[in-house]
Amino acid sequence: MSEPPRIRAEEILVRYGKIIALDSFTASIPHGIVGILGPNGAGKTTFIKVLLGLVKPERGKFTINGRGAFDIRDIVGYMPESECLIESMNAFEMVSYMGCLSGMPVEDAIQRGHEVLDFVGIGEERYREIDSYSTGMKQRVKLAQAIVHDPEVLMLDEPTNGMDPEGREEMLELISRIGKFGKTILVSSHLLHEVEQVCEYMIIIDQGKLLKEGDMEKLLSPEAGRYRVKVRGETEAIKRFYKIIRERYKPVQVVNERGQGTIVLKGVDNSEHILRTAREVGVQIRYYRPDILSLEDVFLETFAGGNAHEN
Ligand SMILES: Nc1ncnc2c1ncn2[C@@H]1O[C@H](COP(=O)(O)OP(=O)(O)O)[C@@H](O)[C@H]1O
Ligand SMILES: [Mg+2]
Repeated sequence: MSEPPRIRAEEILVRYGKIIALDSFTASIPHGIVGILGPNGAGKTTFIKVLLGLVKPERGKFTINGRGAFDIRDIVGYMPESECLIESMNAFEMVSYMGCLSGMPVEDAIQRGHEVLDFVGIGEERYREIDSYSTGMKQRVKLAQAIVHDPEVLMLDEPTNGMDPEGREEMLELISRIGKFGKTILVSSHLLHEVEQVCEYMIIIDQGKLLKEGDMEKLLSPEAGRYRVKVRGETEAIKRFYKIIRERYKPVQVVNERGQGTIVLKGVDNSEHILRTAREVGVQIRYYRPDILSLEDVFLETFAGGNAHEN
């Protein structure tokens, strides 16, 4: 992170009765498109709501672009996960109304309302009641109302929720385009490939705790000594191979299918030992290279705590 974080949260604690939704949650969010990735119930929505001042934490503090919770309304746009549209309004009324609520003069709100609806691809339908819209159209209007006042910081909570694959692609494309205007965009998702597609930085959250954060590029860059080894041979021979290798290295992934195996190792400092072991137990090495991580690898390893289980 070269510049200071735009959003900084420290030791945030939120409880709903006995449930700990955020457990001393600490994170630094830089400028750009940032993914909050985690399974359902991880605490993503709660975190966004805390930043918006909609949920008050029991403990902890945070700042957004240097400001506290009280004076951020005009610089933040929010696309909630749940329904937030007034269904009896048409999209144009809804979006320009939201512009007025965030403090824009009426004429500006009207003009911007049209602009942002054009941007999200809502055409003449903008004069139809929202009630009659498909989920995909509603999601677009939700995005439009979040950006109508041209906020510096955008919080998008599961923006592709309920959309079909084509709609999802278009939504992600819109988010990328907004990112090019130099905004800080927080995008929550439980879908790995979405975060992979649009985000430059990622934080992984589970059970209210931060598990990992970092630049996408860094998280995915190859690590010294990390190797992917694929072998072929009798199942028993592959098992023997794994057993000997495990005495020396801690594998991060192990797969043993009939006659084929893949093992990913960390801290490999001596390739000769691996190649010799293979010869000795009678398995054939089919692939042996430094391993390039996928986001899925990062995710799986983060959740497994770095311990690979054989499957
Ligand atoms: N209003 C609420 N009352 C009680 N429990 C809640 C409430 N909102 C969220 N939770 C619980 O807090 C945890 C975190 O939820 P949430 O922040 O919605 O996670 P996510 O957005 O990652 O799915 C979950 O266990 C959820 O059931
Ligand atoms: Mg949520």
